[in-house]
Amino acid sequence: SMKLPRRTLLVLCGPAGSGKSTFAARYFSAIPTMVVSSDYCRAMICDDPTNQQVNRDTFDVFHYIIRKRLFNGRFTVADSTALHAEARRKLWELAFHFGYLKCLVVFNVSLATCLERDRLRERQVGSQVIEYHIRLLQKALQEIPAEQWDRVYVLNEDDMEATIEIDP
Ligand code: CTP
Ligand code: MG
Repeated sequence: SMKLPRRTLLVLCGPAGSGKSTFAARYFSAIPTMVVSSDYCRAMICDDPTNQQVNRDTFDVFHYIIRKRLFNGRFTVADSTALHAEARRKLWELAFHFGYLKCLVVFNVSLATCLERDRLRERQVGSQVIEYHIRLLQKALQEIPAEQWDRVYVLNEDDMEATIEIDP
């Protein structure tokens, strides 16, 4: 169970196909604008949620929207893979800057499951990318304890149930 203050940045972290966006849609369906998605930011600037040529601009937009939400005191979910230490650090620092609770949700999902889910969906990332993401996940799981998150929730694939309560 996650009982979270209004001023929380909930950073999702996990491989493609691990269920981050599904989790976000499920728990934040009441106010979907709470979820800021890097894929959506990518699509907004180039009409193609898979275009890797626009990473820099995509994450400029992603961080900019998150910054504006935190400035306005809004509870925010950052939906990106956040598998690189540098990506997590950027989000950590945004939360720190605005005095937000820095929460990380790690999707500890196996390669087989990510591949299977990827295979079944419309927009496919492919096995090479997912294998790479799984290696980054293992590295992230080792690095995260030293990163000074206020809370870290590691979700295992057979246990993704959560109760999320946001303080009024
Ligand atoms: N899925 C599933 N069971 C879950 C979670 C997800 O079957 N518990 C399915 C979703 O319906 C979707 C696919 O797995 O078709 C990938 O889930 P998604 O939430 O899109 O994964 P993300 O982690 O958001 O992947 P990406 O980083 O590529 O956005
Ligand atoms: Mg997603």
